[in-house]
Amino acid sequence: MQRMKTGSMLMVLVAVGGFSLLLARQPDELGQRPSRPGPDQIPGYTYGRSEVARSPVTLADLESLKKSLLFTEEDVRYLRMSKPILADQVDDILDVWYGFVGSTPELVYFFGNKQTGKPEPRYLARVRARFGQWILDTADANYDQAWLDYQHEIGLRHHKLKKNVVDQASSVPQINYRYIPALTIPVTTTLKPFLAKKGASAADVEKMHAAWVKSVLLQSILWGHPYIKDGEF
Ligand code: HEM
Repeated sequence: MQRMKTGSMLMVLVAVGGFSLLLARQPDELGQRPSRPGPDQIPGYTYGRSEVARSPVTLADLESLKKSLLFTEEDVRYLRMSKPILADQVDDILDVWYGFVGSTPELVYFFGNKQTGKPEPRYLARVRARFGQWILDTADANYDQAWLDYQHEIGLRHHKLKKNVVDQASSVPQINYRYIPALTIPVTTTLKPFLAKKGASAADVEKMHAAWVKSVLLQSILWGHPYIKDGEF
């Protein structure tokens, strides 16, 4: 398991919209990015742990949802094909995604301190590490109970029930739901060039991309559970 290099500098400053945000990992003295921490070293990442509550959505509900999204075993295969392609590009992908969030005032607001409105660098950095792991988890495409339970946890962490808790952040209390499915489009559109970078055929890139769109949409639907009145999900 990879470990974060001790003392490695995490971030470069990126000036966005008048704010200086700590967004990207700094290359070390050899010009290499520090290696990514393994899942056990990521603060607040609890996928597969006993403390994660059971999802109110059942595996049978999940199957029905996948069917409605035209999500098939072929998509599972293409997501898994994307993993070795994306694995060493995770930080570059995060730079692009955080660049988009950081330059969109409507979105960077949700990383802001609830009093000053200024983005909280520590909060950004901690969420970024879990976001990186999420890329690999999405490419793993293991739709089992542990995965379903962690989807519920991620939904709660966007909702006022649990936002800020795991990072002890002093940010605004909730991400408004309407932005979550919306982000499916920039996340998957900007991913496509990374899928194409390692020599896969154009047809395979299309299929990997389509599988990612479906998976991210599926997840953003599951994350909606806490936002929807009881019995209406
Ligand atoms: C397709 C849409 C989205 C994806 C794929 C996504 C992905 C993620 C992931 C993987 C995490 C970390 C989960 C964990 O704790 O393990 C996270 C947390 C977070 N996301 Fe999102 N997200 C989406 C939409 C949004 C939107 C629209 C915002 C608004 C800026 C946002 C802001 C945040 C914040 C502030 C956290 C930290 C929550 C906390 O306090 O624990 N996300 N997101």
